[in-house]
Amino acid sequence: MPDVTLIRNGLVVEASGAFRADITYSDGVISQVAQRADPASCDRVIDAEGLLVIPGGIDPHTHFDWHEGDDRVEDDFTHAGRAAIAGGITSHIDFAFQRPGGTLKDAIEEWHGKARDAAVIDYGFHPTVVELNEGQLDEVPALVENGYSTFKVFMVGEGWSLDDRALAELIRACRDSGARVSVHAENGLVQLLADELVDQGKTGPEWFPISRPWPTETEATYRALSHARTLRAPLYVVHMTSGHAVAALAEAHSLGEPVHGETCIQYLVLTDEVYKSGDFDLVSQFICSPPIRSQAEQDALWAAIRAGTISVVGSDHAPFGLDNRRAGKDDFRRIPNGVGPIEHLRPLLWDRGVRTGKINPSEFVALTATNAARLFGLAPKKGSLAPGADADIVLWDPEKSVVVEHATLFSASDHSLFDGWEITGQPRMTISRGEVVYEDGVLRATPGRGRYLHRARVFSSPETPYIDEVSYV
Ligand code: URP
Ligand code: ZN
Ligand code: ZN
Repeated sequence: MPDVTLIRNGLVVEASGAFRADITYSDGVISQVAQRADPASCDRVIDAEGLLVIPGGIDPHTHFDWHEGDDRVEDDFTHAGRAAIAGGITSHIDFAFQRPGGTLKDAIEEWHGKARDAAVIDYGFHPTVVELNEGQLDEVPALVENGYSTFKVFMVGEGWSLDDRALAELIRACRDSGARVSVHAENGLVQLLADELVDQGKTGPEWFPISRPWPTETEATYRALSHARTLRAPLYVVHMTSGHAVAALAEAHSLGEPVHGETCIQYLVLTDEVYKSGDFDLVSQFICSPPIRSQAEQDALWAAIRAGTISVVGSDHAPFGLDNRRAGKDDFRRIPNGVGPIEHLRPLLWDRGVRTGKINPSEFVALTATNAARLFGLAPKKGSLAPGADADIVLWDPEKSVVVEHATLFSASDHSLFDGWEITGQPRMTISRGEVVYEDGVLRATPGRGRYLHRARVFSSPETPYIDEVSYV
């Protein structure tokens, strides 16, 4: 007889709506969602009275254990994964960077090496193409077959970026294999502007956002969308920060195009005021690209979420330490770009989104789990609480308040962007494939327990490229 756990008396919140139900699971898989389940037939009962029962979160935008030259994020797969669990996230998709001259397969193997014995939550990888050498396009079909169905490209100019021709070739190769390209959309003007500012002696971190104004993001977004339009291919735009870029995405939606947009939690709760304190150690903590923008842009992002134009909120978790940032003390171009908000992603979205009435609890679930599952080939196993899905379940306390204290966080980062913030809406329990990995501040997740997620194709046949099987909520 299988060992059965019952979660009862909770309010189940799915992307499609909220309802009172009991949930049972066994062998790590949800077996029943019913109005009333019989506790006598279960081995364990978890009482969720007063709590919401929601799917484990999925963060499709992370950089765990990422290092480039002297730059190194402070969180490996264990620490960042524990931070994710404490924030109610049970799956993520990380970017596996091609090394210059290397293959995408090498990149995937390198990232499996980082994750295999360290991961505490389930993980997938986006092959991240930094140059199109001979053979990269030929690698696409086999990678998709092996579960890597979304790819990533930078558009920021020299270094790491593909030019228009290479980007278009990759978009088309992915389309033909049932895969999709994600773009970091900022154009190469950011490098010219940064160089000119530094030449003028404007070297402090406060100049970083000035070097990356919204038109550089909007132009790249529009150009990538245009490539997808021309090639009748899907596209996903990561970490959108500007209402102008979002307008280009909305236009594509009005034409019925299978294109999608994500923003990250930092852009929804911070404004460019963070760059104005004059304190290097403080300001440099907020250096990420695109930069944190104005209140007007933040308002536009919330409007885009409400309109359904943006369908995913991720973290872009990439916390570089203060010593690492100090490499750019005299030249902001040398400050590594990236912040580390994964532990606060869902609590902040609840606090600033649901509690303020901007989104409802089902939209919260859609934005942080269900849409990502559907868009990244993880549904129906992940992102919902239906029978047959993995028992990735969070008991969410909508009223629990926490004042962020850096010292008590699970991330290994030496700072927190949100130190001192009071955030209401927190997980009380996180369950990953049936295992209680977090309960009221106590974490029990052994390194290596996380599993590789073989992801399905994300785009339907190239013969009918405008028909997108991935319909999101
Ligand atoms: O500043 C950022 N966003 N760092 C992480 C890498 C990326 O561009 O997503
Ligand atoms: Zn990026
Ligand atoms: Zn990123």
